Amino acid sequence: MTSTPQNGQINHWLNWSAAELALTLEENNKEAEWLLSSLLNCSKSELYLQEGELSLLQCTQFQNWINKRLAGEPAQYIAGWTEFYGRRFNVNPAVLIPRPETERLVDVAIHTLQELAQPQIVDIGTGSGCIAISIADEIPAAKVLGLDIFPNALSVAEENAAINNISNVEFLQSDFLQFFPPEPIYDGLLMNPPYIPNNEMDTLTKEVFDFEPALALTDEKDGLTFYKHLSATAKKWVKPGGWLILEVGLGGHPQKAADCFLSSDFTNIELIPDFNTNDRILKIQIV
Ligand SMILES: C[S@@+](CC[C@H](N)C(=O)[O-])C[C@H]1O[C@@H](n2cnc3c(N)ncnc32)[C@H](O)[C@@H]1O
Repeated sequence: MTSTPQNGQINHWLNWSAAELALTLEENNKEAEWLLSSLLNCSKSELYLQEGELSLLQCTQFQNWINKRLAGEPAQYIAGWTEFYGRRFNVNPAVLIPRPETERLVDVAIHTLQELAQPQIVDIGTGSGCIAISIADEIPAAKVLGLDIFPNALSVAEENAAINNISNVEFLQSDFLQFFPPEPIYDGLLMNPPYIPNNEMDTLTKEVFDFEPALALTDEKDGLTFYKHLSATAKKWVKPGGWLILEVGLGGHPQKAADCFLSSDFTNIELIPDFNTNDRILKIQIV
């Protein structure tokens, strides 16, 4: 343990926090910079130009943040925000921290749906609203519905729509496994469901397992519950010719998820790789 700086100078607190975080983290410099710039509400480069000092309150708060980080809490929950698809999203432990790999789903959805006149799009398991809000912003003519079972997640999603100034998105509390709309009105159904099989939960890092909501991670079964349910109900949601665009896991999971849709109701079943050549998106057209 290094001793805490005796004054509020920014560079002293930066060096102190980087040394503290080096005890448990490889990316200690990056995280120290990110946390301190979040606390001071400035960019990383501004951090190095700042001549001001941390107030006594900020010193105490930053020490508290570093202690939380050392205890394993993800930096995004501590600071209360993250970046996704170039936008700011508030996060708290009610929602999964949006992942960079999910940006691929947004890419594929934009590419697939942007040419439609006024596409109706639903995002199942919206969490922070990162997918629904990014799509609504990227396709202004779209009408997007984000659905989640967890009311606390929807409060975060509403807040994120407001801070990003997005008005063509709405949110609804609903259990996807019990509910479907009166008519199949959607051109696109997007979904990043809880897909970690119950027997793989013990492979998660402490950061994920101890801090992120279990409801967002696992179906407590084989990791395929949402894909199987969607394969039986997709036609109640999506119009003929419309699309399902789904995130899938790693290893054997993508193929197992794709196999759920091997029936005559579906065509153009495609697994799309990320930039590391792992198949991470399953795209399917409704017949
Ligand atoms: C993997 S997280 C995805 C969150 C966000 N879409 C993202 O990509 O970061 C899965 C989400 O599904 C929600 N969820 C879990 N079970 C659900 C259900 N039966 N019906 C609707 N949403 C559900 C969770 O609350 C969680 O927000």
